[in-house]
Amino acid sequence: MQRSTTITITGAGGQIGYALLFRIAAGDMLGADRPVRLRLLEIPQGVRAAEGAALELQDCAFPLLESVDVTVSADEAFDGAEIGMLVGARPRGPGMERADLLAANAGIFGPQGAAIAAGAASGFRAVVVGNPANTNALIAASAADGVPADRFTALTRLDHNRAVGQLVEVLGVGADEIADVIIWGNHSATQFPDVAHAHLADGTTVSAALADRLGGTEAAIAWLDDVFIPRVAKRGAEIIEVRGSSSVASAANAAIEHVRDEQLGTHRGWTSAALVSRGEYGVPEGIVCSFPVVSRGDGAGYRVIEDLAFDARGRALFDASVAELVAERDAVRALGVL
Ligand code: NAD
Ligand code: LMR
Repeated sequence: MQRSTTITITGAGGQIGYALLFRIAAGDMLGADRPVRLRLLEIPQGVRAAEGAALELQDCAFPLLESVDVTVSADEAFDGAEIGMLVGARPRGPGMERADLLAANAGIFGPQGAAIAAGAASGFRAVVVGNPANTNALIAASAADGVPADRFTALTRLDHNRAVGQLVEVLGVGADEIADVIIWGNHSATQFPDVAHAHLADGTTVSAALADRLGGTEAAIAWLDDVFIPRVAKRGAEIIEVRGSSSVASAANAAIEHVRDEQLGTHRGWTSAALVSRGEYGVPEGIVCSFPVVSRGDGAGYRVIEDLAFDARGRALFDASVAELVAERDAVRALGVL
């Protein structure tokens, strides 16, 4: 057995929290030989649900689960934490403008960033799931004085997996045969799901496989533009429409895969995650933007794959999503948060 790892999950009494906790405790995230200590952070309205989940975790008698603590104190929750999964966020309410949403979330992610700076372990890393995930990660990173900004990432693995899922359906291949899909930009409808570098296990490019399957290059381009990109980018809204509430199990699964790959290493090419930009691909520094990333699993976290080429259409789509991220950053700045 390895030493145990302390993981703080915010919003643990909510839907995604409930879908996350049992898989983490079962070893799905960090492996079957790494015990975990779980810290569940909630607000008073959500604390009973988190306490109920803690009772059920006890009833599972997971061999890897060393302890579960439920708290409403961010300082307690992050004290000594090594991994943070920041799920709890303020959803958009009726009549709420984007500035109101950003202000409400600044009131959550700012104090959590400060609590991380005050007490988290030196190797701490966080993934932000709560929306608007990229900008919430930016707020938390900015508030975490003394913690390197690259310790904060935001989840676009769900978008990445959604893109792979769409290709699986059309190409009739297994998900593990498709590599090097990319989500660029924001976890929002402006994101750019890109298959220009994607390929199958036998080396065939996804573009060639689509042309073969759909009856030529023009048909493949039309499918990418008219079906694939909008379907992936708007899948969150489609799930809300069909299910009546936003994605839960697929989001929890993606968050687990994001942390697993960051901690243990990526295999078979890259994945997608939103990282604090260091100016890669001309993205303004400091913006939390989705890129193709790899991890060696050595504690250094994700690093951006650089120098990939775009065509003009792809570059314009990416730039539009980056412009949205810049507008979100500026709106938060105008609130005096950054
Ligand atoms: P939910 O409403 O079921 O749960 C959210 C929980 O967060 C609630 O229990 C609430 O009490 C708690 N919470 C609110 N403020 C908190 C705070 N300050 N500290 C601790 N806990 C707090 O929502 P959900 O379905 O679990 O979704 C959670 C978030 O994840 C939402 O913002 C949703 O939009 C987002 N989401 C993101 C992705 C992604 O891919 N990035 C995908 C799906 C959902
Ligand atoms: C999702 O992608 O499923 C979530 O971010 C929910 C949403 O609002 O799109």
